[in-house]
Amino acid sequence: MTPETLSTLDFGEPDLIDASLSDNVRGLVGSEILKIAADVKKMIAAGDDVCNLTVGDFDSRHFPIPDGLRERIITAYNDGETNYPPSDGVLALRKAVVDFVARTWGARYPIESVLIASGARPILYSTYLAVVNAGEKVVYPVPSWNNNHYVWMSGAEGVVVPTRAEDGFMPTLDQLAPHLRDARLLVLNSPLNPTGTLIAEDQLRAIVEAVVEENQRRTKQGRRGLFLLHDQVYSTLLSGDARHRMPVALVPEAAPWVVSLDGISKGFAATGLRVGWVLGAPKLVARMKALVGHIGAWAPRPEQVAVAGFLNDAPAVEAYQQEMNRRVQRSLDALFNGFTEMRAQGYPVDCVSPQGAIYLSLRLDLIGRSIGGRRLETNEDIRQLLLDRAGLAAVPFQAFGLEQDSGWFRLSVGAVSTDDIERAFPRLRSLLDELT
Ligand SMILES: Cc1ncc(COP(=O)(O)O)c(C=O)c1O
Repeated sequence: MTPETLSTLDFGEPDLIDASLSDNVRGLVGSEILKIAADVKKMIAAGDDVCNLTVGDFDSRHFPIPDGLRERIITAYNDGETNYPPSDGVLALRKAVVDFVARTWGARYPIESVLIASGARPILYSTYLAVVNAGEKVVYPVPSWNNNHYVWMSGAEGVVVPTRAEDGFMPTLDQLAPHLRDARLLVLNSPLNPTGTLIAEDQLRAIVEAVVEENQRRTKQGRRGLFLLHDQVYSTLLSGDARHRMPVALVPEAAPWVVSLDGISKGFAATGLRVGWVLGAPKLVARMKALVGHIGAWAPRPEQVAVAGFLNDAPAVEAYQQEMNRRVQRSLDALFNGFTEMRAQGYPVDCVSPQGAIYLSLRLDLIGRSIGGRRLETNEDIRQLLLDRAGLAAVPFQAFGLEQDSGWFRLSVGAVSTDDIERAFPRLRSLLDELT
């Protein structure tokens, strides 16, 4: 018998297997964004002209990784850097991260505060696991990315704080304060996925000071602390004169309770290379090291060695960041200017001026309106219509935990050219001209 003549194994009734799996995996919801993106890919494969504004990823033709990073990765492979990395990350990279953070954000961490993992996701999940017991409260604003999934996976109780467009979709201390007394973890992300907005410095300072105060109270009472998980994976992607701040640079006394995470996925357009890091209290980071180690969620060693070398080349890092921001800004401007013009012409569209990340928040005020006899009741109806009739692929804010059908969408510019964007506007205008 040859391998080709073996009959393929039969796994029987899929539902029987599924019913036997854990509540945890059966209750998990897959990524809504990836589901939408799969529809879009099919249309593109069928030859349709689609402006794909769905995925938070980059087309390497428009947004390549830095040359200095690519060359160092190849060298690292050629040098045989192909074994297990140390479980907290290659020392040279941890040192390079300390220096990068100090020169970029004005906060100096000890080396024991740095742990490297395979991107930001394992860091996010291990922070939840390291800090939160099952049933404890995690407070997070919506719209935001993936907190609902990490809450589920860690068995936590999610406390959702809806934000307002007029606050740039960022939470205020007034909105958060009632929930902090009995929370274990507060999660903030700025620049924010999905909105492309930044938290104002005074707003962030007030929230971080409240975390410090809450912990002073708890320390006196002998209670466990409240942590702030600060996700800054888009921190170097900034529009115009927008300024990003780290919580510990604003309020150094918060250091014991703040966990900041970052990585190369977004800032260096390197989502597939899988290098992320956490900065936090050494004791917490040591616990996370054990978690990441048991999962084996280390970043690949050649990439770690290469990122270390690249981060240490400050002029190359700055030059890349400038060029990256110029390109992202050009695409975001093309979207923002296009929608602003449509709005001035009376179309029911609105968008928030971009401040950072690779996203634009767009509102289509179409709920209750009809097009071609089709009445639009939900964001999902609008999404489908835009895709089918205007070749415009966007992600509704529902994919980021918002419940109301308020017409808000995330537009991501990483996978399109400005030409793709320009070509989409006439299609959208002629679709909206049919509105009744
Ligand atoms: C806010 C935010 N945090 C973390 C991540 C995960 O990044 P990584 O690809 O490094 O796991 C993403 C990815 O889209 C994100 O948008």
